[in-house]
Amino acid sequence: MNNNEEIDINKLPKHVAIIMDGNGRWAKQRGKMRIFGHENGVEAVRRTVEQCARLQIQYLTLYAFSTENWNRPKLEVETLMRLLVASLRKELKTLNKNNIRLNAVGRLDSLPKKASNELKEVIEKTSENAGTTLTLALSYGSREEIKTAVKAISSKVKNNIISPENIDEDVINAHLYTHFLPDVDLLIRTSGEHRISNFLLWQIAYAELYFIDVFWPDFSEQHLMQAILSYQNRERRFGKTSEQLS
Ligand code: IPE
Ligand code: IPE
Ligand code: MG
Repeated sequence: MNNNEEIDINKLPKHVAIIMDGNGRWAKQRGKMRIFGHENGVEAVRRTVEQCARLQIQYLTLYAFSTENWNRPKLEVETLMRLLVASLRKELKTLNKNNIRLNAVGRLDSLPKKASNELKEVIEKTSENAGTTLTLALSYGSREEIKTAVKAISSKVKNNIISPENIDEDVINAHLYTHFLPDVDLLIRTSGEHRISNFLLWQIAYAELYFIDVFWPDFSEQHLMQAILSYQNRERRFGKTSEQLS
């Protein structure tokens, strides 16, 4: 099956988000350390990002490290942070070549200095790119994001900058880390787990969910095509009836 020919280029999801899961199990299956899985996961990131750029998908958001992931063994956390720094350094050229703009969401101030500096630099150096916007969710937790937004809005209410009656969905959106992103259209999770794990809870309200039973390092161009194809075969009703849509 050639999925390339089957997807409708005019009906692409505007915003694809991915929970990249299963690196550890991928490595364990091969009798290796979890870290080996993370290293190979980087390749899958590169493939996916380049493919989204080729397809001209406007927004790609990748869940790379959650607020809960800080509770993993110290060595694993350190390795993930080291991999992040190395990948950012290595990929800057490719991002520019593909006209990709990098962004990040999460508690970025809790990242090690080296990682946050590298991140800032790549964000800055790709800021003029007008193709795909690639957003990395790093030290990201949706509840933490919502809590931060509530605090910021409350403080504006207290200082008479906003009145409570004027708090609507747009105001809430504007105070989330993701204020520059549209709602998610297609959410993919690899590894066979069927959960959201504190990712973009507000932003996926009407996303189409796609769960695939392959570990992240094995996620290929073909798998992404399958996900898009599945998305295109769904009817997004947003509460209306099917008849109202046609
Ligand atoms: C995803 O793979 C990467 C991160 C969460 C950083 P995991 O490391 O969660 O791999 P599994 O789920 O344990 O196999
Ligand atoms: C979600 O994966 C976080 C990322 C992919 C970065 P986890 O592996 O941390 O999720 P749980 O713990 O299985 O729900
Ligand atoms: Mg996992």
